[in-house]
Amino acid sequence: MKTVSVKTGSPTGPVISPALHSQFIEHLGSCIYGGLWVGKESRIPNIEGFRKDILEPLAALCPPVIRWPGGCFADTYHWRDGVGENRPVIFNGNFGTNRTEDNSFGTDEFMRLCALTGAKPWLNLNLLSGSVQEAVEWAEYCNRAESTALSDLRRENGSEAPYDVQLWGIGNEVWAGGGNMTPEDYASLYRRFSSAMPHFTQSDGSSLPQTFILSGPDGNKPKERVSWTRDLFAALARYRQPKLDAIDLHFYNWNVGPEADEVDAFDREGWYRVLKGALEIESVILEQDRLIQEGLAQFPQPEGSFFPSPKPTCKLYIGEWGNWHQSAFRAESALWQQCSMRDAVTSALTLDVFHRQADKLSLACCAQTVNVLNALFLTDGDTTILTPHYYVYRMYMPHRGGKLLSLTADSPETDGLPAVMALASEKDGVVSVNLVCTDYDTPCQVELDLGTPAEILSGETLSSRSLTDCNTPDDPFRVIPRENLPQKRTDGRFSVILPAGSVSVLRFKTK
Ligand code: AHR
Repeated sequence: MKTVSVKTGSPTGPVISPALHSQFIEHLGSCIYGGLWVGKESRIPNIEGFRKDILEPLAALCPPVIRWPGGCFADTYHWRDGVGENRPVIFNGNFGTNRTEDNSFGTDEFMRLCALTGAKPWLNLNLLSGSVQEAVEWAEYCNRAESTALSDLRRENGSEAPYDVQLWGIGNEVWAGGGNMTPEDYASLYRRFSSAMPHFTQSDGSSLPQTFILSGPDGNKPKERVSWTRDLFAALARYRQPKLDAIDLHFYNWNVGPEADEVDAFDREGWYRVLKGALEIESVILEQDRLIQEGLAQFPQPEGSFFPSPKPTCKLYIGEWGNWHQSAFRAESALWQQCSMRDAVTSALTLDVFHRQADKLSLACCAQTVNVLNALFLTDGDTTILTPHYYVYRMYMPHRGGKLLSLTADSPETDGLPAVMALASEKDGVVSVNLVCTDYDTPCQVELDLGTPAEILSGETLSSRSLTDCNTPDDPFRVIPRENLPQKRTDGRFSVILPAGSVSVLRFKTK
């Protein structure tokens, strides 16, 4: 047993935006067809065509934002194929999906998903095979309140009220599958699309705030990602500036090297390698934030403008993140992969990074929600299992809207990682503390000092007998959170035992 002491203090940091817990679904593998969407006529229990055993637990997570239709799929998606009657069947070759799809899941179904789960929609525009006109018409279809041919089409398709889509991704990974563009190529295309996007009025007469999201760099290319952001802002800073609000960085924790390493079969070296790989995202966030600020600083003051021109700002989003194991490339359903305790621990560490950097990072979407990569749900025929990763999201919900607390941890290190990594936030007199035990084989005893009188509200730990354990259709509840209440000591501090390789969230009432 190792001993770790953790002390929390007063609120120091920013409010943890709920948007850091957002989701991403794409027409890839069985994420949508056969996964989330089975259609109303399916014998699989469904709510309006959405698989019930996904929709209900997904709604319970209250995903703040869901991004759709891709990813790379967005680069060839024509939104009109997915609305109304007589939808064309297409061949989906995205990442080896390689099958026909009937377009029964389109814009109206996506908006319904958002309504049923309480999520805000993020639509990604097609900049590769689509046109500016098509993008504008999609926005008109979604958001126009006044009667026009396009808004009447939306009404015919069931939605009287506009969808008020605010988040528009203008391109996806344009440096690769999205067009193999240079920052300069992309900047000029971005200028055209962003300038053409229409304005909308909301029912209260105010104008609909819209967020235009630049395609950000490949977070896994240390040199290219620096040049991408630097050169893109340099190109956007020339002459007049287009509207821009956010930039979408993608970062995957690649685990495709050692052949013997499998999601459910790895050794100590594989455990620490993947955990450390996930933590690299923090330095990428800091680097990209710096580059964004430097980039914005080059924007010239507009000349003789009639309108007051506020200082330009640009938020950092992460539209795709997660572990990407080599088995994803071999999977029958494209990019399907299992999720073990190792993935749950990396998800917890990643969310901790996002929370810690909440003043620099505004939104992050897990890639992807169902049956693809770092999934929350895995389906197999009629069965759906919730992955350990799902439970991390559920356990971390109390941090949403909380203020980061100062925290010091005195933890021994193993293989270069603190045995326990912790983060705490406070909201409405409730302090939530996560304790991630990264140690491969030794449990840790944590002595926790909240620095203020407190009562225990709850304590849960996600762990399993073996770190390679996953939930499967035969054993769907192998890895689930279980109650783990800390002991209150006579000196007012708390003590809790963390199993090796585990995620715990403790909540305390302090007022
Ligand atoms: O999430 C899977 C794929 O990874 C997305 O389609 C693409 O944007 C990224 O390369």
